[in-house]
Amino acid sequence: MKIQFSQSRPQTARLLAQVVDKGKLPANLEKSAVEGAGAARFKGTAGQLFETFVERDGNVSRLALAGAGDRNDEARSINLEKAGAAIAGKYQASGETEVVLDLSGSGLSADEAASVLLGLRLRNWRYDVYRTRIKDEQKVTLERTTVVGAPDRTEAAWEQMAHLATGIEFTRELVTEPANIIYPESFVERCRERFKGTGAELTVLDEYQMEQLGMGSLLGVGQGSERESRLLAIRWNGGGSEAPTAFVGKGVTFDTGGISIKPGPGMEDMKWDMGGAGAVAGAMLALVGRKAKANIVGVVGLVENMPDGKAQRPGDVVTSMSGQTIEVLNTDAEGRLVLADALHWTQEEFQPARIVDFATLTGAIIISLGNEYAGVFSNDDELSKQLYDAGIATGDKNWRMPLGAAYDKLIDSPIADMKNIGGKGAGSITAAQFLQRFIADGTPWAHVDIAGMVWSDKPGQTWGKGATGYGVRLIDRFVADTLEG
Ligand code: BES
Ligand code: MN
Ligand code: ZN
Repeated sequence: MKIQFSQSRPQTARLLAQVVDKGKLPANLEKSAVEGAGAARFKGTAGQLFETFVERDGNVSRLALAGAGDRNDEARSINLEKAGAAIAGKYQASGETEVVLDLSGSGLSADEAASVLLGLRLRNWRYDVYRTRIKDEQKVTLERTTVVGAPDRTEAAWEQMAHLATGIEFTRELVTEPANIIYPESFVERCRERFKGTGAELTVLDEYQMEQLGMGSLLGVGQGSERESRLLAIRWNGGGSEAPTAFVGKGVTFDTGGISIKPGPGMEDMKWDMGGAGAVAGAMLALVGRKAKANIVGVVGLVENMPDGKAQRPGDVVTSMSGQTIEVLNTDAEGRLVLADALHWTQEEFQPARIVDFATLTGAIIISLGNEYAGVFSNDDELSKQLYDAGIATGDKNWRMPLGAAYDKLIDSPIADMKNIGGKGAGSITAAQFLQRFIADGTPWAHVDIAGMVWSDKPGQTWGKGATGYGVRLIDRFVADTLEG
């Protein structure tokens, strides 16, 4: 979606759109449109859309009124995104190629206008590269938004916001790609392409280097795959001399479960078991794009979990880089094994001031929180609160869950330092306890279990079916408010 700004309405405009606050139809709206909106019970609630036809300057064109809710709603920016998204959702494949968004008289600020554009662009995103025989009526036609009557400084506000959109789209792309296309090495390659010339510094460890470092936990997971494992770090120094903040992502490019193999139905979902890594990579792209004034590093552990003659077995004991040994009772509890070494290496390599990891770690978090909130597990009240606030502000919602010694005990092993699964209950918590054993005392850390958030089977705030891009905005906002603010 191309977004451009113009002084006047293009004469050829066939599709006009206006943003409408709840209960406030535009003052100069044609009488027929006012009647129509009333008949259609259009109130201007967030994301509501009303379509009519109007004659303006001698041309008849479509007019879409997109609702933005109450002007004073605390979720104002999210509501404005919904308004933009409603326009894209309606006209994405309508045959229209351009929407003229008329903001004159809207009363929006520059930042508010940029939020509408963000929603429009994100909702219009779709990944059709493998659909070679798609019917004309199904194709995405909408390719351009021309903004007229934009408030002062909207272009500058949008220039900043556009980096966020680029990051979210990159995450969605990585998550959407199937596992025969995105595997550890190709994930790294795609990052190399996208970060070229941005000023970010990429470091990649291959299997030999990880072996030298003693990463038996991560390597054990990739052992049954023909694809080589990788560890990728993306570093951005925009903030002087303070210690960096680290974001760490689970990048299991496909999770069959390994020898503890998953049932067939639904296994295809496990192509998005790299959603944590995708979120970290996309967030780094957004932050680097807008030249964030902060020191940050994104680290992703990339492996494919496959069953094979060489695969690790239930009961195997592996030694992690930290020296701690792990009894692998279930090869399907692999994400924590990958993160154990990724988290330890991140602390050794970067001495971060704080760490936040993102992982599609447990099915149990979907039982607990569904698809509304990610689960947050943390040793630090302030960090949890900052993540919560960033979630509320952006719509990447998250909810804190407990940790504690009684849960930690559940992963003690009779043969090794720990086992990689707990008992029947509290599956997301025991997974988090496992991760915490790889965090040095005194380092503020949060683990965000995003298993319910990466993929959506219905359209939402700014996405259609499929990859949501969850986590990018959360990280971007967290950085802006706590590191740059
Ligand atoms: N990647 C899965 C978790 C998952 C499940 C993500 C469904 C998204 C949707 C993870 O590796 C896994 O398999 N976890 C197991 C842990 C169990 C073996 C202790 C699970 O949740 O069943
Ligand atoms: Mn698994
Ligand atoms: Zn997994």
